[in-house]
Amino acid sequence: EMQEEEQVRKITCCAPINIAIIKYWGKLCEVENLPLNSSFSITLNYHDLCTTTTVTTAPSYVKDQVYVNDLWQDINENPRLKVCFEEMRRLARKQAISENAAAKELMSCSKKIHVQSVNNFPTKAGLASSASGYAALTFALGQLLGVKGDLSGVARRGSGSACRSMCGGFVEWLKSEESKNSTAKQFVDETHWPELRVFILVVSSKQKSFGSTVGMQRSVETSALLKHRIENIVPHRIKVLKQAVLEKDFCLFAEICMKESNQLHAICMDTFPPLRYLNNVSEKIMNFVYSYNERCGSTRVAYTFDAGPNAFLFTLAPFAEDLANQIYQVFPPSKDCTDTFFKTTEEFSFPNGKIVPDVTDCGLIEYVICTKPGPGPQIV
Ligand code: DP6
Repeated sequence: EMQEEEQVRKITCCAPINIAIIKYWGKLCEVENLPLNSSFSITLNYHDLCTTTTVTTAPSYVKDQVYVNDLWQDINENPRLKVCFEEMRRLARKQAISENAAAKELMSCSKKIHVQSVNNFPTKAGLASSASGYAALTFALGQLLGVKGDLSGVARRGSGSACRSMCGGFVEWLKSEESKNSTAKQFVDETHWPELRVFILVVSSKQKSFGSTVGMQRSVETSALLKHRIENIVPHRIKVLKQAVLEKDFCLFAEICMKESNQLHAICMDTFPPLRYLNNVSEKIMNFVYSYNERCGSTRVAYTFDAGPNAFLFTLAPFAEDLANQIYQVFPPSKDCTDTFFKTTEEFSFPNGKIVPDVTDCGLIEYVICTKPGPGPQIV
């Protein structure tokens, strides 16, 4: 028994990122990350993009420690990190009490924990590292402390969008005035629409985007369009989107997806002073999508953009290779990046070869990650 208590325990987990189709933009409560509207997202395959988090306890530990990509984080200066630890310990204690656990087990809820977290994608690319990061932390602490039940509300406290990364597949995050009811729920799992493919176009840009936390705060204060959207647009749009997903109606899915992205960025322009997340390359990608669909005579591709210039494109498996070829032609990589341009486990063939076309603006897109829907957090 004594020996068991002295044990070093170590658990490693990974969590995926998610991309919102119906966007979360605006908070009812800043402290709790309660959203003004429900949102809907797709969790992406963690093999392509994830945060891997290792949590350990050992008798020698005297305080909690967190390292993210080898950088030490001051938990006391980071209320989001702090609240995740506090909430997980509170839930562990509550569970132990309700299970009439021995005093020893109650004690173990307050053992000090070391956390080491790494992303398998460049943080500076502006992909949603906070979503996968807080999902991985919450899930890993849950495993270490043996906490049962839905932990999406805890991940939400770290970062709103992180709660959706606690589920796989197609996910809805419910708005509520009550913290306990604002959780993420799986709508259908990642196997529901096996043909769906996602291309992430990482736009070359050194410029750091204005953070979404302060961005949405400013929109709530100044945008009348945001108020209109929350009251009159989102509820119906989520209903129609769910129908499109259930029926695997790509054309309808694509229309909602692009209109939602457009509306988010319209609200950003309606915010005062305005927020600009899209750049010239993002605009060029949108035009590319419209003319590609026009040329095909049907909707084969849809885009969505979050609070940054990177594009998330959706298509279906039979069109993925052609789309990859078209991207290569319209947005050729710079000469030294031709072999690392597409990061994919699927093999695409390039009938036109991988010859960089003779256009002046090469390298507008740094690289493309090809992925698909995936499951929620895992123990690795
Ligand atoms: C545009 O979840 O990063 O990506 O709750 O303040 O951490 P905080 O914000 P965050 O906002 C994400 C905004 C978005 C849309 C979305 O993911 O729904």
